[in-house]
Amino acid sequence: MRVIAGLSSRQRVLIGGGVIVSVLALVVVIFLVTSESDAAPEQPIDFSHQIHVAENGMPCQYCHSTVHNSPVASIPSVEKCMGCHNQIAIDSPGIVALTEYWENGEPIPWERVHNQPSYVYFSHQAHVAAEVSCGSCHGDVASMAAARQVVHMNMGFCLDCHAEQDNGREELYDCVVCHR
Ligand code: HEC
Ligand code: HEC
Ligand code: HEC
Ligand code: HEC
Ligand code: HEC
Repeated sequence: MRVIAGLSSRQRVLIGGGVIVSVLALVVVIFLVTSESDAAPEQPIDFSHQIHVAENGMPCQYCHSTVHNSPVASIPSVEKCMGCHNQIAIDSPGIVALTEYWENGEPIPWERVHNQPSYVYFSHQAHVAAEVSCGSCHGDVASMAAARQVVHMNMGFCLDCHAEQDNGREELYDCVVCHR
């Protein structure tokens, strides 16, 4: 304090400003580091699971229609969206953009939220058949305004649950189950 007391008011303002700027910079860095993997990617259209699932009761499989019979869950086509949005909310900016994709016959270039390395084999079908809930791997998507990754699916995560499967399927931890 004594040092500060000896400074001119202009110097004090400069020091105070410097401290505030450094604290803000630190906060931004901490925010970027901790939120990096969990931020929702920017999407071409602001699609909200909260509106469609939580507020309007649409089941996951209505849109992710191959989740029970194929490795991939699939993302619904523009045609599927237009089945409703040729009438619903047609003047909103999101639906104007959607209609443009439809009229141009173009798919919507959605950014992926989850991405496994290509050397990992994953299948939705096996997990849906075994009644593993979507939420155990994707979190509470139904209440997300923008889909983002909340569960980090590293090898330990996969193996932990496979280890709990008490059905005599030891081959569930064989390397070749997931690395073929
Ligand atoms: C009305 C259609 C619709 C319904 C219903 C729906 N989704 Fe989606 N979902 C989408 C679309 C479109 C995307 C791609 C855009 C995005 O990532 O937000 C998507 C993306 C996702 C993603 C991220 C995919 C990736 O890139 O990794 C997950 C996970 C997901 N949905 C899970 C669910 C679950 C779980 C439910 C049910 C609770 C559900 N969805 C219901 C349309 C739907
Ligand atoms: C055991 C974990 C697990 C469960 C359970 C699971 N998913 Fe996934 N999901 C994944 C993984 C891993 C990926 C990324 C796959 C990749 O990158 O190839 C993924 C990707 C997706 C995608 C992106 C498109 C795709 O097919 O790659 C959607 C959409 C999705 N899941 C929806 C669902 C829905 C809906 C359910 C429930 C019916 C569900 N998932 C259950 C692990 C899971
Ligand atoms: C089963 C009917 C249905 C389907 C299919 C559907 N939606 Fe919707 N969507 C709705 C309803 C209902 C709302 C809420 C409208 C409101 O509140 O005015 C909505 C709202 C929206 C909004 C917000 C509009 C606004 O008011 O700003 C967007 C964007 C949107 N949907 C995009 C999509 C996309 C993209 C798809 C395809 C992946 C899709 N929807 C599929 C029924 C549907
Ligand atoms: C919450 C529990 C759970 C998690 C998490 C989980 N699995 Fe599974 N997995 C299962 C169950 C249950 C089965 C089916 C066992 C059976 O068929 O008896 C299974 C089966 C499989 C199979 C065998 C499919 C087949 O064709 O037989 C593969 C591959 C697989 N899981 C990969 C993964 C990968 C990769 C991850 C991580 C991204 C993962 N699993 C995470 C529970 C889980
Ligand atoms: C249940 C599925 C599953 C099984 C079984 C499995 N792995 Fe993996 N493995 C994964 C996933 C998922 C990743 C990717 C992790 C990530 O993205 O962080 C991975 C990544 C790896 C990597 C790369 C690690 C790194 O740090 O980049 C190696 C090496 C590997 N696994 C070896 C093995 C070996 C050896 C076995 C058998 C003892 C095995 N795995 C069994 C799911 C599995």
